[in-house]
Amino acid sequence: MKIDLQGNVCVLGLQWGDEGKGKIVNLMADPDGPAGRFDFVVRYSGGANAGHTVVVGSEKFAMHLVPSGILSPAATAVIANGVVIDPQVLLEEIEGLKYRNVKLEDNLKISNKAHLVFPYHKLQDKLSEQQLGKKSIGTTCRGIGPCYSDKAARTTGIRVGELYQKEHFAEKLRRIIEKKNIIFESLYGEHQPIDFNSVFEQYCEYAERLKPYVCDTTALLHQAISDGKRIMFEGAQGALLDIDHGTYPFVTSSNSGTGGLITGTGLPPSCINNVLGVMKAYSTRVGGGPFPTELNNDIGQYIRDRGNEYGTTTGRPRRTGWIDTVALRYAIEVNGITSIAIMLLDVLTGLDKIKIAVSYKVDGARMDFFPANAYELEGIEVEYEELPGWRDEITEARTQDDLPAEAIQYLRTLQDILERPIKIASVGPERDQTIAIDL
Ligand code: GDP
Ligand code: IMO
Ligand code: MG
Repeated sequence: MKIDLQGNVCVLGLQWGDEGKGKIVNLMADPDGPAGRFDFVVRYSGGANAGHTVVVGSEKFAMHLVPSGILSPAATAVIANGVVIDPQVLLEEIEGLKYRNVKLEDNLKISNKAHLVFPYHKLQDKLSEQQLGKKSIGTTCRGIGPCYSDKAARTTGIRVGELYQKEHFAEKLRRIIEKKNIIFESLYGEHQPIDFNSVFEQYCEYAERLKPYVCDTTALLHQAISDGKRIMFEGAQGALLDIDHGTYPFVTSSNSGTGGLITGTGLPPSCINNVLGVMKAYSTRVGGGPFPTELNNDIGQYIRDRGNEYGTTTGRPRRTGWIDTVALRYAIEVNGITSIAIMLLDVLTGLDKIKIAVSYKVDGARMDFFPANAYELEGIEVEYEELPGWRDEITEARTQDDLPAEAIQYLRTLQDILERPIKIASVGPERDQTIAIDL
């Protein structure tokens, strides 16, 4: 299988996450992969809220912080400065990979500028969500929002590099924990105060274990570019969860789109040659927030069951719905998408009719542009185009010609509406269940 994707490629989700980015990144990171060899695979945003599944034969990997490209011995995996790192999760992931004989020595690099997630971030995430009750965001409780907030606040953020200035780290951490304990006590009432000594000792131990991997990844990536090396960027979350361009406030706390790639790596925009948008053949969302094409019925459950739509990170059932080309066209424009991979096409097998959302109306008037403000999406009316479904399973299909005419019609209709070439269709979690598309 060959696909034409030249130069440095960013792979990012076009919906609300879980589009199948892990599968595509892993497939493309293989030196004999469909788009040729990549030397680096780089995570640039998000943290352990991400859960990227990679299936290789009988083995299944759930990656949270380490780029999915690590499973390829050819590529160096980089966790760049825009990522927020929970060292406990990262070290568990590293140990788990080593145990499964994945090579992890010189080929993992961690930015000294990345911010660290501390236990008080996870606690704050949980307490804040509990307090909000029905109005909660539905976060993964991985401490992501509180950590990015502290990064922006400056005086309460701690970066990986600071772990190695022990006196400075101790003084700063002590001051922050004292402050957090006062805030938590007054905002959330009773809870076990966070103990400075145990957090400090724990993080000093983490620091030693992470040391071999820590470097200035900005310098590393600039050197890679001047040496003519090829880079793949692994997006986390999805375009509609982007803090600026997603369905705010039901979003994550970082820029998951191409904007985040630039700030999250320190590379200039000119280094991105192609942006591959990854989308499901339908839509899903975990947590709260608007979802105009949601299916709270038997069809929604059918999709959830066939797609095994339960979160990789939290195990929560994912909400399901029809594909939404109004939201997708917006995601494509905002992120400069050059081509598309459509995933989980096999899940739609067996449906009589398949619907595509083509426009939104509010009070009878058509909306021209996706309103990313969550409240504007309440009460909108969705207009659909209806296409025939197909009956026979397609998980064994390996070329475009193996797909039923109705599936091709579905892909062609989407390609026409989205005005970008669909280059990949995926018909199962395994690597070989991937088809090069040329319509
Ligand atoms: P990511 O966060 O974008 O990497 O996606 P997740 O890994 O969270 O969720 C995608 C899920 O779909 C995983 O369980 C994958 O193994 C699975 N998957 C990926 N592609 C396909 C496909 O084409 N068909 C089916 N049935 N499952 C797929
Ligand atoms: P991957 O990379 C799906 C969602 C959460 C919640 C909102 C905010 O696997 O596609 P956060 O913990 O980030 O503060 O939660 O964002 N969310 C994801 N949904 N896939 C993800 O990552 C997600 N990361 C965050 O469910 O609605
Ligand atoms: Mg996921």
